[in-house]
Amino acid sequence: MSHNKVLILDYGSQFTQLITRRIRELNVYSEIHRFDYPFEKIAEDKTIRAIILSGGPNSVYDDGAPGLDKRILELGIPVLGICYGLQIMAHTLGGVVEASAKREYGRATFTHQDELLGAQALFADIPTESSIWMSHGDHVVRLPDGFECIGSTDNCPISAVADARRKLYGLQFHPEVHHSDQGRAMIANFLFTIAEIKTDWTTANFVEEKVEQIRAQVGDEQVLCGLSGGVDSSVAAALIHKAIGDKLHCVFVDHGLLRLNEREEVERVFRGHFHVHLTTVDAADYFLSRLAGVTDPETKRKIIGEAFVRIFEETQHCIEDNPKRLVVDVNGVFSNPDGELKRTEHLPFAFLAQGTLYPDVIESVSSTGGPSHTIKSHHNVGGLPEDMKFKLVEPFRDLFKDEVRRVGRELGVPDVIVDRHPFPGPGLGIRIIGEVTKEKLDVLREADNIFISELKSNTTFEWIENGSKDNHLIFDFDGVLADTADAFIQALQDHPEFMDEKFIDVKEKVIFKKNKVDNFKKPEYFEPDFIKKETEARQWVGEKLKEIGFDIFTDFVEKIKKIPNKKIAIVSSGSKNYVQEYAEKTGLHFTHILCFEDSPSKDEKVRLIAKDWGVDLTEIQFFTDTQNDVHELKDVLPEHNIFGCSWGFHGYKVLREILPKEQILHKFSDIFKVVNRKQTRLYDQVWQAFAVLTEVKSVGVMGDGRTYENLLGLRAVTAVDGMTADWAHLPYPFLATVSNRIINEVKGVNRVAYDISSKPPATIEWE
Ligand code: XMP
Repeated sequence: MSHNKVLILDYGSQFTQLITRRIRELNVYSEIHRFDYPFEKIAEDKTIRAIILSGGPNSVYDDGAPGLDKRILELGIPVLGICYGLQIMAHTLGGVVEASAKREYGRATFTHQDELLGAQALFADIPTESSIWMSHGDHVVRLPDGFECIGSTDNCPISAVADARRKLYGLQFHPEVHHSDQGRAMIANFLFTIAEIKTDWTTANFVEEKVEQIRAQVGDEQVLCGLSGGVDSSVAAALIHKAIGDKLHCVFVDHGLLRLNEREEVERVFRGHFHVHLTTVDAADYFLSRLAGVTDPETKRKIIGEAFVRIFEETQHCIEDNPKRLVVDVNGVFSNPDGELKRTEHLPFAFLAQGTLYPDVIESVSSTGGPSHTIKSHHNVGGLPEDMKFKLVEPFRDLFKDEVRRVGRELGVPDVIVDRHPFPGPGLGIRIIGEVTKEKLDVLREADNIFISELKSNTTFEWIENGSKDNHLIFDFDGVLADTADAFIQALQDHPEFMDEKFIDVKEKVIFKKNKVDNFKKPEYFEPDFIKKETEARQWVGEKLKEIGFDIFTDFVEKIKKIPNKKIAIVSSGSKNYVQEYAEKTGLHFTHILCFEDSPSKDEKVRLIAKDWGVDLTEIQFFTDTQNDVHELKDVLPEHNIFGCSWGFHGYKVLREILPKEQILHKFSDIFKVVNRKQTRLYDQVWQAFAVLTEVKSVGVMGDGRTYENLLGLRAVTAVDGMTADWAHLPYPFLATVSNRIINEVKGVNRVAYDISSKPPATIEWE
């Protein structure tokens, strides 16, 4: 199936991939091509609904500056030029671009012209003033015919332009970066208001389509998949297995250089949970014997890489009967510990699965405008040789890593795998300085496990914002979603006739989450995807209700929509402190407070909240989904400030008996920016973290005796793609806990050091 598509023409900006991701986050598919992507291809591709011209490092007057085929602007497809994209569009259509007196880089205040048609479309529902991110040298000084200026900053009078008739738009700043507060809303307006694109790029759609495609591609053949325990190969295996079941065979090579319990986890998930044909190859002795006496890092890598290829190749001949385990001895001889080894001369597999990602295949533009290719062959040790005679199944060629993670969650791949940090192919082999031995590996595994498990159990809160509107709806998930989940389950039990597929899907998710986390305080529960699913289901319930005569999209929603710049807080007694913290942090002044309280004696709680926040009781609007609350609250609040939330069918019917229709609210997401408190683990805030065992020995004291033992290095970095990295500023108390635990619990280590080097000049790994 082909999706509605946004074509992004890349002029070499460092933010081009970010534009694509922002669009995809809005559930629209988008694709990057070089700026010189042929006009004919664009003209004949009827799925292209909009075009974005990215930024770039050039000036339009540079020799050999990347150009724009004017005919693209005449196709009638809406176009948005960003930074260089705007300049090249203006230049191509006869406008004038000039070098600025000074380069502008950083935050600026942008003001748009409300009264102009183009602004009303691109900046619909966006405050007149907002904060944006500039990064440019040149700017447009004269507009082409038909264009008008629809917004400016102090330094850049022509910051936004439009020819609304031809649907050509341009922004001098970068709406795709986070610092542009309303950037996401502007992109959404371009997609939905101007280009009128329908959303059809969702994880669930992706899985459904890929399953069909893989089935068609593979036919009756067999597929081989090398599992590494990492995100990409694991999610690929889960997806391909969903498509072709037993025709998939996975191989997991245990080279003895894995982290603690890694192999068991992979076996548990893929054999135990997914029931995939999985052969584990126990080759630790073989690898270790080959590594004996070797100290040079590059030699270690080479040995591990070659050994890996050899083992993987031979394994293909030995798994036709799906043995659970194969053992390789020090000489490389295979055996099956559970029976006879069956070796076939021919290869039973026609296809090899690979977890290639979109960033690996995008052809990008170098800073000189010349062609270049993003190649991640950087470290392919542990990968497979290129001359293997397979056809490839590469289901993620269109996806970014975070999209693969979402697909993984959709397929039920456990978080322990989906959220896993990158891990190098040569494994702990390059995290032991000097010779690799079994004893050293055991010490390192134990220390690394302490570091990683502490990172996972250390959690902090951050605020996440969804939705593009200026209205803030803030709530604390612990309360609200818990109620929602219950209401869904209740509604389903009461009304089995509503169990169509979509609802069942949501129900499973809700129950799954409920069982899995058994309270609602775990991070999984806070995923935007889940919220989206729920919202969809709620809308679905709404439609069903409409069909049978209940109108829940009420006047009330319309009324709320009309209050300008609403700043609304939803609080319960449990969440009021967090909400207040958010308000203080962001300088928000709430115009309305909505209460959501799920404990008894609500009247008392509401009084307390009012007192705490210093607001009059009449300013509080209360939301509830139970009848009793309404009765109880009528003593405290004016009746018209009490609203029902008909989360489920059941709730609506009951509430309808006691509240006027316009006081029953169903759908928040359309009218508010939803702000949630998200719990994150320290583990998720770093790109990669690990321990390194060094050869340095130092003196220590333990009890009454002196020790002379190894120095252990801890490394944690933040990064976007691993090409550059900064050391993670982990809190001192956290580091203290980890170091204490390691020195006390791991025999063989008496000193711990934290690595504070960034990349470059250091690398992430130590070897
Ligand atoms: P460096 O150490 O080069 O690491 O800053 C960048 C990223 O690559 C991983 N890495 C490797 N991955 N084989 C791999 O498959 C290797 O030999 C290798 N060396 C480093 C490293 O873990 C980081 O994510």
